[in-house]
Amino acid sequence: MNKLQQFLKFLNEIGFEEIKIEGDLMVKEHHAEEKKDKTTELEILKEKVLKCEKCRLAETRNNVVFGEGNPRTNLMFIGEAPGEQEDLQGRPFVGRAGQLLTRFLNLFGIERERVYITNIVKCRPPGNRNPQPDEIKACYPYLEKQIELIEPRVILCLGAFAARTVLNLPEKTPISKIRGREFKIKNYSVIPTFHPAYLLRNRRGETDFQKDLELALRIAGML
Ligand code: URA
Ligand code: SF4
Repeated sequence: MNKLQQFLKFLNEIGFEEIKIEGDLMVKEHHAEEKKDKTTELEILKEKVLKCEKCRLAETRNNVVFGEGNPRTNLMFIGEAPGEQEDLQGRPFVGRAGQLLTRFLNLFGIERERVYITNIVKCRPPGNRNPQPDEIKACYPYLEKQIELIEPRVILCLGAFAARTVLNLPEKTPISKIRGREFKIKNYSVIPTFHPAYLLRNRRGETDFQKDLELALRIAGML
């Protein structure tokens, strides 16, 4: 390989796809293109999940709640499962707990649209019961794909349930023992914190929640 070929190979490896020589040397970036493809892939995944009937929750749901927000965000929120309002509207965290979450984000000057919000399971368990292991098993690949496509720097797990599932921790692990800690997995950090629904009942958890959110926003480079 001569020097020019080596240089072109190097450019290609760092993400340049096409080099045009038109008077001046023009180099076309392809990173933006790649991100666009991932956004499209996320849309395609969403279409598929909206029709999913892989577990029994499909029988009782009104709407699948896929998740929403900025697909290029550095910060992703993962809750447990859609509640009543979420099931009716097909959107995550729009009930009382969700409004509290939105208020906390706004406290740091962050609009909800700048992050991505989803849940471990995408359909509401009847009467808000806990999702069962086989339901999580059926649904989890969708979440994994969402993480792969969004590539967040930080995942904030809302509540013990999300934290245990994402971090693969024993069933009884108390959230108070793990909240506020940064767990490094692959190329992202996972931070467990309280579920906003818990905060509605226990106002004293708000200080810790705010601290954990601030840590997540900092690692995500959003503060
Ligand atoms: N609780 C959750 O865990 N997720 C939602 O989307 C709403 C409430
Ligand atoms: Fe499919 Fe997940 Fe809904 Fe079950 S909870 S039907 S696996 S989308």
